[in-house]
Amino acid sequence: MESPASRIWPIGGGKGGTGKSFFTGNLGYLLAKQGYRTLLIDVDLGAANLHTIVGIPHPPKSLSDYVNKRVASLEEIIVNTPLANLDLISGAMNNLDMANLAHEQKMRLLRGVGRLSYDYILLDLGAGTSFNTIDFFMISNTGIFITTPEPTSIENIYRLIRSVYFRKIHQVLKTYDFKHLAEEAEKRNPRAIVSNPDLLLQVMQELDPEKGAKLQESLGSFHFRLALNQLRKQDSHQTGTLICKIIEKHLALRMQHIGNVYFDDRVHNAICKRMPFLELYPYTQTALDLRECCRVLLAREATAPLRRVES
Ligand SMILES: Nc1ncnc2c1ncn2[C@@H]1O[C@H](COP(=O)(O)OP(=O)(O)OP(=O)(O)O)[C@@H](O)[C@H]1O
Ligand SMILES: [Mg+2]
Repeated sequence: MESPASRIWPIGGGKGGTGKSFFTGNLGYLLAKQGYRTLLIDVDLGAANLHTIVGIPHPPKSLSDYVNKRVASLEEIIVNTPLANLDLISGAMNNLDMANLAHEQKMRLLRGVGRLSYDYILLDLGAGTSFNTIDFFMISNTGIFITTPEPTSIENIYRLIRSVYFRKIHQVLKTYDFKHLAEEAEKRNPRAIVSNPDLLLQVMQELDPEKGAKLQESLGSFHFRLALNQLRKQDSHQTGTLICKIIEKHLALRMQHIGNVYFDDRVHNAICKRMPFLELYPYTQTALDLRECCRVLLAREATAPLRRVES
């Protein structure tokens, strides 16, 4: 029997340092602990350091070897971590290898990831809205966005979500040969395509109800999730919900706030000790917050549960 496709969760943030790698590493830890076969891929274009967060030295082989065709398959650069069920593909050692990925290299990488067989594959993406980063969101209907409560970080996450969503819309339009309809829709209302997916949908439904329904179905299948990281006591707990509401209002995109993760100075200690935070400090508020995010993420999967590895 063919193995079921892996669930791929790209994880990104609008700016550097919001905690993407910290979140990815610890989410992977939690999934693996629950028996899910999990692979972390460090796709950070230029700041690959996920290996340290999961507590291993930089592996001898990395994505550099794959993109430069020194190895034929991604399987050859997968390494085990000390935790059962948790594997890692380490990020490129040379920034130029990834930051300047040619289209063909990128497509080969995306196809390679799509062929791997895990329960969950988490992609730790680089910061911002670069073309490369957004491409990696196209591999999945899910996207997890990490922001801190600082306005600068929130502004950037909004921009990133908007860019990813618009690229997805264009992808759907292209896939279903909506080009002609999209052009017609744009003629009727130039704002429709460039700035308002809701309006685009409306016009498309008027022009061709069947295709309009298809577009609605595709757009409705996106699961965008938001986590607020590095929350401090003085920060509002409502910020995440508020951001989701603003996104829904302006982009007509349903966004799920999966939780707030508290700031804890001991995250620094864990990274300095090269140990997963959850292993060193499992009973802290931040650890509870990470568990809650994982629970919320998995709750969505409840309708199609995955087989777990018996431990
Ligand atoms: N919840 C938290 N509490 C305290 N410190 C945190 C928390 N999350 C992340 N940090 C700290 O913030 C810094 C950035 O974290 P991390 O490297 O995970 O961010 P990133 O978004 O992956 O950054 P980059 O864009 O550089 O890849 C690290 O020094 C980490 O220790
Ligand atoms: Mg990082």
